[in-house]
Amino acid sequence: MEQAASASPPVAGRIVLASGNAGKLRELAALLAPRGFQLVLQSELGIEAPEETGSTFEENALLKARHAARLSGLPALADDSGIEVDALDGRPGVWSARYAGESATDLENLELMLAELAAVSDARRTARYRCVIALVRSADDPAPLLGSGVWEGHIASFPRGSGGFGYDPIFLPLGQEGRSAAEMSAQDKNAVSHRARALQHLLAQLP
Ligand code: IMP
Repeated sequence: MEQAASASPPVAGRIVLASGNAGKLRELAALLAPRGFQLVLQSELGIEAPEETGSTFEENALLKARHAARLSGLPALADDSGIEVDALDGRPGVWSARYAGESATDLENLELMLAELAAVSDARRTARYRCVIALVRSADDPAPLLGSGVWEGHIASFPRGSGGFGYDPIFLPLGQEGRSAAEMSAQDKNAVSHRARALQHLLAQLP
């Protein structure tokens, strides 16, 4: 795996976000604007996402960032994330979006997880969201920056709440007194999520 550099030359101005997700753009742009960065979605530049062929979050984040930088000619930021469930030996991990099949919906993924955990006691339903964010100055940047973040919690026995996406209705974050991530406001979630922590970790490495 590639190592993050400790001292990269500065990146400034426009950065392409290797995603078509406007929600992610809003979340990340709010944190990046005070640092003088303007994010533009790769989908707005007509760039399609590459196949995520990596077996780690780092590999997938890097391959997405390099792909967006290659096709846009701009510095690029990409995130890769997923959920790890201890009673499932860390699954679904990098395969979280495809847990119930290649084009599975959020609901199908969540229902499969509840079914797989049906016989698992509350105490053993520990889990965490994990996110890695990669920043490259160019497609062949030899010194990409990587930031990582985790958000610890438990898997509930039934879904609740209508906010967020993915596994949020069954993810009970530590310290939220039984509130699911889908019952948190976007602002509360963005303050503590794995993605926010990964970005803070990355920003702390910028010169
Ligand atoms: P990606 O990083 O956009 O490829 O997302 C991977 C998958 O992980 C998503 O499709 C969700 O299933 C799951 N995931 C990642 N972050 C979150 C989150 O904040 N809430 C709920 N599910 C998430």
